Amino acid sequence: MNFKIIGTGSARPACVKTNNDLAEFLDTSDEWIRTRTGIEERHVCQDETLTDLATAAAKAALENSGTDPQELDFVICSTIRGDYITPSLACVVARNLGIHCMAFDINAACSGFIYALDCATGYFERGRAKKGLIVSAEAMSKMVDWHDRATCVLFGDAAGAVVLEQGDSLLASTLSSDGNTEVLSIPHVNGNSPFSDSKEEPHYLYMNGQEVYKFAVNAMSTGLTTVMEEAGLAPEQIDHVFPHQANIRIIQTAMRKLKIPHDRYRINISHYGNTSSACIPVLLDEMNQAGKLQRGQIIAMTAFGGGLTTGAMVIRW
Ligand code: ACO
Repeated sequence: MNFKIIGTGSARPACVKTNNDLAEFLDTSDEWIRTRTGIEERHVCQDETLTDLATAAAKAALENSGTDPQELDFVICSTIRGDYITPSLACVVARNLGIHCMAFDINAACSGFIYALDCATGYFERGRAKKGLIVSAEAMSKMVDWHDRATCVLFGDAAGAVVLEQGDSLLASTLSSDGNTEVLSIPHVNGNSPFSDSKEEPHYLYMNGQEVYKFAVNAMSTGLTTVMEEAGLAPEQIDHVFPHQANIRIIQTAMRKLKIPHDRYRINISHYGNTSSACIPVLLDEMNQAGKLQRGQIIAMTAFGGGLTTGAMVIRW
């Protein structure tokens, strides 16, 4: 007994900024961003909070699944940074839904959705939960340095959610970490302790893009190969691949290393950029709402991100 996904939802800020919008204040161009990354536009928060996005995605998923919030036994949010250090984003979402079940956050950066699904499995296996909610929500626009053209153009804001119930959809899963603060990091606030010698650093995302690129291509191909083997599936048996949407070139390079037919890869990076752990559930919701997922189809997911973390999973829809 593990889980099955019975509903999906997503939300994004109303404000859309194109590459040309960014070129008005950055030394960049639509041509550079499109050809190097595949990104054309991204949604960015103006007056929306991350909690607003997460709650909207959660409500959409509950409605899609026909679930009353009172039926939920857990709320798990994946996020790099909620609106508060405490309470967790999950606690605030649960409050907005009017419920009091267990609620907590997972921070596995871009791999967060797959980490959250894997974690939720345990509650179903133990009979601890009959239904649960996962929300992956990220406001990357609040964490990048908008003077750094090498990073700020890559990211966007969004939230994706799924409602789970007991089932047997999970076929295989793999997670990993490789602790590293040099390649990708976002420093925390230091506070104002009069006893601390540590200096306040800028709290912006730092990334060595080329190092992450190499790591990402390897993570995608190794992760998918591992879960397909574990599930006893041949590449042509995969109906849909939902890859983390960090860079179209990363996805295309990994595609060439794998034998999964290229028309199975689902991609929406052009309209969102990298929304970290929200990428996969937003894509899942778009495909679900468009009626493109048939019950019984095999879905493979793969993600990599800060940590450095990786996650890959195969489920039966
Ligand atoms: N516009 C114009 N020029 C730019 C821009 C920009 N937005 N950004 C960088 N450049 C310039 C650089 O300054 C450099 O110029 P130089 O040659 O004069 O020094 C040149 O373009 C090439 O820069 P590179 O860094 O070599 O560009 P690259 O082709 O490697 O692409 C990129 C950079 C897009 C960041 C790529 O390395 C990448 O996608 N890396 C992976 C990122 C990723 O996957 N992140 C996911 C994890 S994020 C998370 O977990 C939160």
